[in-house]
Amino acid sequence: MAREEKPRKVILVGDGAVGSTYAFSLVQQGIAEEVGIVDIVKERTEGDAIDLGDATPWTFPKHIYSTDYSDAKDADMVVITAGAPQKPGESRLDLVNKNLKILSSIVEPVVESGFDGIFLVIANPVDILTHATWKMSGFPKDRVIGSGTSLDSGRLQKVIGQMEGVDPRSVNAYMLGEHGDTEFPVWSYNNVGGVKVSDWLKAHNMPESKLEDMHQEVKNMAYDIINKKGATFYGIGTAAAFITKAILNDEHRVLPLSVPMDGQYGLHDLHIGTPAVVGRKGLEQIIEMPLTDKEQELMTASADQLKKVMDKAFK
Ligand code: NAD
Ligand code: LAC
Repeated sequence: MAREEKPRKVILVGDGAVGSTYAFSLVQQGIAEEVGIVDIVKERTEGDAIDLGDATPWTFPKHIYSTDYSDAKDADMVVITAGAPQKPGESRLDLVNKNLKILSSIVEPVVESGFDGIFLVIANPVDILTHATWKMSGFPKDRVIGSGTSLDSGRLQKVIGQMEGVDPRSVNAYMLGEHGDTEFPVWSYNNVGGVKVSDWLKAHNMPESKLEDMHQEVKNMAYDIINKKGATFYGIGTAAAFITKAILNDEHRVLPLSVPMDGQYGLHDLHIGTPAVVGRKGLEQIIEMPLTDKEQELMTASADQLKKVMDKAFK
């Protein structure tokens, strides 16, 4: 950063497992010069600010501090990880009422502070909470983004990479739709070096049913982790930091995010996961992937599921 530039400032709301891992990821990677942390448990934010500050002699200079909503006034981003996580057996959609209530106690004071930056929503169910943040804030659509299927697409890259013996970063693969049980892989696109995963399976005499196995494995990965250790946070903490970097550094990067549908895939009036271009101004472009008829059906079904829950929750 050139000296005369304004420090990049993030206000993190929610200092639990996901929030604190995200903050650690920002520190480790030197993303943002100022990170203010807000949580209803004030003492935790004070403790975390000191603890994260202790990491900076070995990482990057950074101002990390406990704060309140008024401090969002001149922030570049407000990142919302506050919200109940799933208990074993619960779906993300089961969290909707609790987390909408928590969300409304956050968005209002952030907007009142005069905040004029970009909201990044991580808390679940992320597609519905992103849509609600947009509605509650009155912000333009390009300044409210959800993490969408970032984590799920990363999980798919990992699973394909393990099977094909390549670095997950070299796997081009997307999960689309709800960040949740109705998400689906875009097998008509997903590839390594231009070779579709389905063609790679054929070439290696492996059954096509492997595709569905991978779909299920990715879809169920959060449940598996939650059953084993109670919560997921390293994957999303790192993915959220990656999205933050793409925005703050004006990378014009394509990421699978929760973005507003305005006719793409024949959908309207909801946020859902699809590739989108983000940069310093927020959402720059929404990419509508060409889908097969079967994939389009899955996208429509995923949106229908979100709409059903939204209609009930927003009533
Ligand atoms: P957690 O319980 O560890 O942390 C939640 C934090 O929110 C706590 O520190 C709590 O004090 C705080 N909080 C609660 N109500 C608040 C309020 N009104 N104002 C400010 N802070 C408040 O939970 P977690 O494991 O960190 O998960 C947080 C959320 O992230 C959950 O909804 C979870 O489902 C979601 N999540 C999303 C993804 C994704 O891919 N989008 C991945 C993992 C988790
Ligand atoms: C995930 C959370 C639970 O790890 O949404 O996918």
